[in-house]
Amino acid sequence: MIGNEKTEQFKILAFETSCDDTSVAIINSEFKVIVNLISSQTTHEDFGGVVPELASRLHLKNIMQLTQAALTKADLSFKDIDSIAVSVNPGLIGALLVGVSFAKSLAYSLGKPIIAVNHMLGHIYANRIENPQLEPPYLALVVSGGHTELVDFKSLDVFEIIGRTRDDAAGEAFDKISNLMGLGYPGGPIIDKIARNGDPKFHRFPRALNKKDNFDFSFSGFKTSVRNYLASNDNNFIKSHIADIAASVQQAIVDSLVSKTIAFAEKSNAKTIIVAGGVSANSLLRSEISKKGKAIGANVFFPALEYCMDNAAMIGAAAIEKYQKGEFADLSLNAFSKKGIRIL
Ligand code: KG4
Ligand code: ZN
Repeated sequence: MIGNEKTEQFKILAFETSCDDTSVAIINSEFKVIVNLISSQTTHEDFGGVVPELASRLHLKNIMQLTQAALTKADLSFKDIDSIAVSVNPGLIGALLVGVSFAKSLAYSLGKPIIAVNHMLGHIYANRIENPQLEPPYLALVVSGGHTELVDFKSLDVFEIIGRTRDDAAGEAFDKISNLMGLGYPGGPIIDKIARNGDPKFHRFPRALNKKDNFDFSFSGFKTSVRNYLASNDNNFIKSHIADIAASVQQAIVDSLVSKTIAFAEKSNAKTIIVAGGVSANSLLRSEISKKGKAIGANVFFPALEYCMDNAAMIGAAAIEKYQKGEFADLSLNAFSKKGIRIL
């Protein structure tokens, strides 16, 4: 529903439960985050990845308490909230359903309008928390645990997916290789940290699909080559070079992401590049894409580190313009798990 544009100040209470983080935030119409609480589910670490049923149960256990804690921390009550925002896709369906059901019951009982937000759009809007003026046109590299997409946004409604992964997502590659190396979950932050003491040129792992004009990504062949490399060297060698191997792995993933993004930015004369999703926290990705973006005359933006990984503040940020345009959902709203960037 599109209504009249609203220009008054307002506050949005936002929920994010698409994967293994339960998060509740309150953000105002100026993109100021009043509170952003995240309860990360460490239980999954024992399994080397997220167990969907466990994730849903833990969201259910956390969400009420976290909502109360967010209001207390912000020194606000439900009557100060103007609207409720919730991520509805993509994600684990059971996990999303907890957030959506909770948000709908709150909206109904408080008589407040509800706003449906695409989780990936939330990642993109995380950039506006520090840079509220940031608007398309821009080229977005969206890199998370489930997605790797290069998207050319003319406006938020008119966009083209230039490239996407043909197999694993970039974050998934970090996570799976970290498991292969025995380093734990989630792999991205662990490899990022260990790689700081390693030599990125220690071993050259393959970069897939590196032909000019191919903007798709692929990480599964590279993952197999890491597996073969680990199997063909003895344990002592691997242990003593763990930082070098981590740095070489990180360099290979980052090279693929950066080279394709910069090549398309150069071809399309993009002046603004934004990076979004959990992998945007990667220190090497941030420095390489900034350097290479600058060299072709493009400004590169990332979310602040605290808003790179899943959080409800970004869901609230993506709901601000929807509130202003009166784009509210009704109580038949449901979660769905279709992948990708789809603007609701
Ligand atoms: O966006 P996100 O929090 O959840 C999804 O929507 O998937 O992204 C999580 C992913 C994980 O795969 C994690 O390993 C990766 O982001 N990640 C990183 C870093 N921090 C998180 N990957 C590389 N370097 C990091 N510093
Ligand atoms: Zn995410």
